[in-house]
Amino acid sequence: MIISSAADFREAARRKLPRFLFDYIDGGSYVEHTLKANSADLANICLRQRVLKNITNLSLETELFGQKQAMPIVFGPVGLSGMFARRGEVQVAKAAANKGIPFTLSTVSVCSMEEVAAQSSQPIWFQLYVLKDRGFMKNALERAQAAGIKNLVFTVDMPIPGARYRDAHSGMSGRYSAPRRILQAMTKPAWAFDVGINGRPHDLGNVSAYLGKAITLEDYIGWLGKNFDASISWSDLEWVREFWKGPMIIKGILDPDDARDAVKFGADGIVVSNHGGRQLDGVLSTAKALPSIAQAVGSDLTVLADSGVRSGLDVVRMLALGAKGVLLGRAAAYALATNGQQGVEHLLDIFAQEMRVAMTLTGVTTIAQIDETILNLKV
Ligand code: FNR
Ligand code: LAC
Repeated sequence: MIISSAADFREAARRKLPRFLFDYIDGGSYVEHTLKANSADLANICLRQRVLKNITNLSLETELFGQKQAMPIVFGPVGLSGMFARRGEVQVAKAAANKGIPFTLSTVSVCSMEEVAAQSSQPIWFQLYVLKDRGFMKNALERAQAAGIKNLVFTVDMPIPGARYRDAHSGMSGRYSAPRRILQAMTKPAWAFDVGINGRPHDLGNVSAYLGKAITLEDYIGWLGKNFDASISWSDLEWVREFWKGPMIIKGILDPDDARDAVKFGADGIVVSNHGGRQLDGVLSTAKALPSIAQAVGSDLTVLADSGVRSGLDVVRMLALGAKGVLLGRAAAYALATNGQQGVEHLLDIFAQEMRVAMTLTGVTTIAQIDETILNLKV
């Protein structure tokens, strides 16, 4: 299949993966209203075309949390990536290092932070969830420090998982769904060979390392429901802020009041996010939520954003709406599933070229110059 866009990677991933895995990546919660709004609202942000601006020496370089990076993109945390391609988290981390951008490892990754950090030529970022077992959180933070991780992404929008109808239908969730998943895997021999046979062990690497026994993926969605903690507030988390000396980024902010609380908490950054439309359906798309949040706290901490980004044009739109950097979720997962590390690097090449076109035709040459003046907001 000819791949020229993130949409092509999505189609290639659909063909390659067993249905339960494709639907896990692709799906959102409830009727998927917010999932659709994320991309649709972003696409409706109108760029302001300018011409004959003598564009030379265009640069995508930027700096986040004191680190230079080749472009304002970060690989966001994506649970179970090691099921999309063989040792998937290691492959995305290697792609990130080759292309000079950061990679964030999820708490619920297949590969442990030690496995990924050892194989990445640059420090990775680590994403932590609020789990009922605070011993796990403490242990994960200590191990992250030992593995040389500096940037902590603390995800706060999953105190309880949203219902995902597609996961129930595909066999991804539900107690006795394993036989259905095996049947689906048998229809996808390339995946079965790459991941099913050669990509083992299949477990939650970070959690298994803590418990000293393999946490299998038999009832992954059920595990999330049982272990996430809704009885949590900012003050319960002060110990994390005190413990973690490096930059701390709160992910899952969708309201200016929560963004102000993140500033009070002492966060270095936030990710404006609705978890890619996978949590509370019916909330604002990020494109709509971002501008007022950036205005409220943009001078106090670093505002990042995600949800719905499917092209370099979308990256430029998010920056123009007030983000300093953009996280990729599904776009990277589709590329990983399609062609591993090479696929992910190809995706970044596509995004970089799309960004160059958007910047040239809106008349800017640096990331710092991108702001709301490159948009036609009032039409
Ligand atoms: C996610 N996301 C996520 N976020 C997080 O903080 N920890 C995690 O483990 C996961 N896991 C995860 C799995 C899958 C399959 C997806 C698609 C997403 C959310 C992710 O980091 C990001 O916020 C969204 O994916 C952004 O939306 P887009 O880019 O996918 O539209
Ligand atoms: C998800 C979780 C793991 O969105 O963040 O599937």
